[in-house]
Amino acid sequence: MIAPIETKPRVEPLYPDYLPHYDPDEKVEGVGSFEHDDPGFRADAELPNLLHDATNKFDLSPHCGTELHGVQISELSPAGLDELALFTAERGCVVLRNQKFNDIGFEKQSKIASHFGPLHRHGWMPHPKNGPVEFVIVYDSEDDLRIRKSWARKSPIQFHVDQSPETQPPGLTFFCMLESPPGPGGDTIISHMGRAFDRLSPSFRGRLEGLKAIHTTANPIMREIRDNGNQAVLRRPITKSVHPVVTLHPVTKRKCLFVNSSYTQSIVGWDEEESDYLLKFLFDHVNRGADFSCRVRYEPGTIVVWDQRCTQHSQTLDYSPGQRRHAFRLTPLANVPIPSKVEEDDGECQKDEGRMMLNLC
Ligand SMILES: [Fe+2]
Repeated sequence: MIAPIETKPRVEPLYPDYLPHYDPDEKVEGVGSFEHDDPGFRADAELPNLLHDATNKFDLSPHCGTELHGVQISELSPAGLDELALFTAERGCVVLRNQKFNDIGFEKQSKIASHFGPLHRHGWMPHPKNGPVEFVIVYDSEDDLRIRKSWARKSPIQFHVDQSPETQPPGLTFFCMLESPPGPGGDTIISHMGRAFDRLSPSFRGRLEGLKAIHTTANPIMREIRDNGNQAVLRRPITKSVHPVVTLHPVTKRKCLFVNSSYTQSIVGWDEEESDYLLKFLFDHVNRGADFSCRVRYEPGTIVVWDQRCTQHSQTLDYSPGQRRHAFRLTPLANVPIPSKVEEDDGECQKDEGRMMLNLC
């Protein structure tokens, strides 16, 4: 057997214009309230514009994720982008390979992402030095271990919705891989919150509907200060919102669990012990949800599009420290979360085939 040739790791990053920039003095404003016109409403359900050039399409798991080959995001028409919104809302996430999008520059990238809503401005994550503040840079490398440091005293597996404390949290989100570790590792696990909700028992689902929870950026901001001291990036004050525990996706009308362990602090109106107990159960439920999640492996040029209103995701951070992983995220904001409607008897139990077959209703 021939021994594999040892190659030296690349020293220079492939995308120097997208390197992270940390300015402890920088401040930005939030986007503010706006009317959200979801592109998914305009989409043709047959997806003719999105799938016109597709050469392959396969699901990554039954309940979450589809991989599409042959489709270039940067070449989609407005109708194709509308269909991407609908398809992502239905599947939770869509994985696209070898994307030219990564090479079209800040301006065109911003314009395409803005098709889905105004772009979020992050309070502490870095942006490119000479690039727009809306570009969130995820950079882990031997020359910048800031991400490693932030997870040093915490499990890196942390399912979350990006920026759920916003009054209008994100909808469709683009995660664009510029450079990934040479071997396996650095995957993202994406989990479908519609299925997470459906898999709970009918009476428990009914108890969750109507509850509200407080979401806040306080903990991550405190971690930023703890880890980086006077070099901490604090562009925006703490953001806080109250959202329904169960939301309705505006396009698919699917009920989704909307609490996450990174940002959800407490259940409104419940005593601390009650709130902690329920939230711990729900976070554990999501953490155990291997049957409603998919795992995405990256290559340079991979873009994962996920809909934050019906999914949560977690990094894995399982590759060797010092290996370079370089990505950017564009995060269009969407609707004010819609509470699911509490119904006396909505027939949910009858729709749940597994429970019906076993007579568990
Ligand atoms: Fe995230």
